This record gives sequence, structure tokens and C-alpha cells, in this order.
Amino acid sequence: MIQNSLCSLLQLQYPIIQGGMVYASGYKLASACSKAGILGVLGAGSMSLDILEQQLIKLKKKVQDRPVAVNIPLLYSKVNEQVDLCLKHGIKIFITSAGSPKIFTKKLKEAGCTVLHVVSNDDLAAKCEDAGVDAVIAEGFEAGGHNGRDELTTLTLIPLVKKRVSIPVIAAGGIASGEAIAAMMVLGADGVQMGTRFLMTQESSVHENYKNLLRESTSHSTELVMKKVVPVRLWKNEFYQKIKKKEESDATKEELVNLLGKGRARKGMLEGDMVEGELEIGQVCGLIKDLPKVDDLVKDLVSQYNLALSRISKF
Ligand SMILES: Cc1cc2nc3c(=O)[nH]c(=O)nc-3n(C[C@H](O)[C@H](O)[C@H](O)COP(=O)(O)O)c2cc1C
Repeated sequence: MIQNSLCSLLQLQYPIIQGGMVYASGYKLASACSKAGILGVLGAGSMSLDILEQQLIKLKKKVQDRPVAVNIPLLYSKVNEQVDLCLKHGIKIFITSAGSPKIFTKKLKEAGCTVLHVVSNDDLAAKCEDAGVDAVIAEGFEAGGHNGRDELTTLTLIPLVKKRVSIPVIAAGGIASGEAIAAMMVLGADGVQMGTRFLMTQESSVHENYKNLLRESTSHSTELVMKKVVPVRLWKNEFYQKIKKKEESDATKEELVNLLGKGRARKGMLEGDMVEGELEIGQVCGLIKDLPKVDDLVKDLVSQYNLALSRISKF
């Protein structure tokens, strides 16, 4: 697989990022990814400050000098404290999401860090470049977790973003194989970020019930809901059906927030309640039936990628 500008920027063997994921990407997943030559990312979104500090200590011990990042979704209340804690523990790569790139980029760059920001359209990508962000992660509508309102597919989004910025562009949303990585590179991406594929590994921290349920996924298993609140792609369990019914009855934003309540994602993804929990996942779950170790998965992705390129070269 290629060594390119993104590999140089992040000191990686392969231009692949494991996406930060609430309840899924703790220190075990992030360190396994960093050891496999890609960028491991601790998902700080769901963590209290105490838990984040414990995770940072374990993470730094496991990865030693290898590159590793923390994802800070900007929609939570303790983001300032989370950023300061990460800086205190020597984190050098930050992936910010779900908010303005202006909030932390200047501070993080002054502290000598590399900053990546997640975008769902090309206007936001241009704002990232103006704010001094080092690379953008352009995440399409297929993706798991919270999503933009634009409903742009990854195939459309990457060329749009490439036209607007000169910093590296990382493609995310719907990528789970070496063939898909090759397709994104052909489209002009400098690398990829994958979430759903890494959630379905032995090292991810979601509950076994969730991993087992996901093996039954088909092309009909997910939908983007809660557009009145924060759009999120969910697995269609009973809790999803309740949201859907409320949305069809034209429920207000407040009614939807009340139905969501507190701790739904934790209940589903971490505690294993497959009925009443909120289950975030990407469309590509329908393609994934195995639960590999990260190291084997990365090796497979690289050989699939190389095979795809040699097939294309014969056309
Ligand atoms: C369960 C789950 C939780 C996620 N949580 C976050 C998060 O906390 N912050 C974030 O920036 N992105 C989050 N994402 C998005 C991923 O980082 C990644 O960009 C996305 O999964 C890529 O699309 P894919 O699922 O099709 O690979 C989450 C995705 C999933 C599946």
C-alpha cells in the first residue's frame, strides 16, 4: 500500500484511520490499531474525565511511541477539560468533530499538535482549512454514528471537498474493504477513516450482544433518524421503531429528546440491551460477518487493496 503525504503527516505505515466511536473505541482498540501501522483513535465522547484519564494512561503505556489520536466530539459539556487532560497526557493528534473547527484548532496548533476535523460538506471543509486544520475527514451519509444534515454520499462528497481544499482529505462512510479503500484513493482521497468495520473486531469495547446482533445485518438494517435533534444512523431495533413512530406522528424536537432520555447509547452498545438501547452503526454493517483481530484485519485490508489495484491495471 502507498506511503503518501498523510502517512508522513501522521507517521503511519498505512493511510488508514480507525474512527473514534463512543463506547466502541477504548484503549484496547486504539492501541491495537496503532500497533498494526494505522492511526488508532480513543473515542473520548462518552467518557467522564476520570474514565478518560484512566484510558489515556493505559493507552500511552500500550502504544509507547507509536502515533495515536483522541477524538473529541464538540457537542458535550466537558470538552475544554477533555482537551486539557489529553494535552497533559502527551496526546499529539486530535480529531475534533460535531462542531466548529475554530473552537480548538488555534490552541492545539500552538501546543504543537496535529488537528483533523470531521466534515459532512465542502463549505465546512473550506472553513477547516481557514481555521488552520491539518487535514479533513469527509464523512458521507452512509456512515455510522452522528451524521451531517446534507445526506451527501461519500462518492459525491470526496470530489466536492477535494475541489475546495488543498490540505489532505480523508474519506469516511461506507468503507469496510481494501477494494473500497482503493476506490476512495482513485477518487482523490489521501486516506480513509473506518468506523463500523473496526467496531466489528475482537478489540472493540461494545457488548458481545451487539457484536452478535450485527452479524445478522442486511442491506435493510440501518436508517438515519432524529434529524430534528442530531441526525444519527441506527440499527433498526425496537427502540429505533419507537423513534420512527414518533417522527411519523410529527413529534417536536422536545418530544424526541425526551424519548431519547439519558444513557441510551450506553445502555445499548456498552451494556448490551438490544431492545431499549440506542445502537449506532453504518450502512456497511450488511457486508460484515466476521469478527477478526485488528492485526489480521489490517493485513487483509492491505492485500485486498493491492489485489484491487492489480485488477484495475488490467482494464
Ligand atoms: C458506534 C459508532 C460511534 C461513533 N461515535 C463517533 C464519535 O464519538 N465521534 C466521531 O467523530 N465519530 C463517531 N462515529 C463515526 C466514526 O468515527 C466514523 O467516521 C464512521 O463510522 C465512518 O463510517 P462507517 O461506519 O461507514 O465506517 C461513530 C460511528 C459508530 C459506528
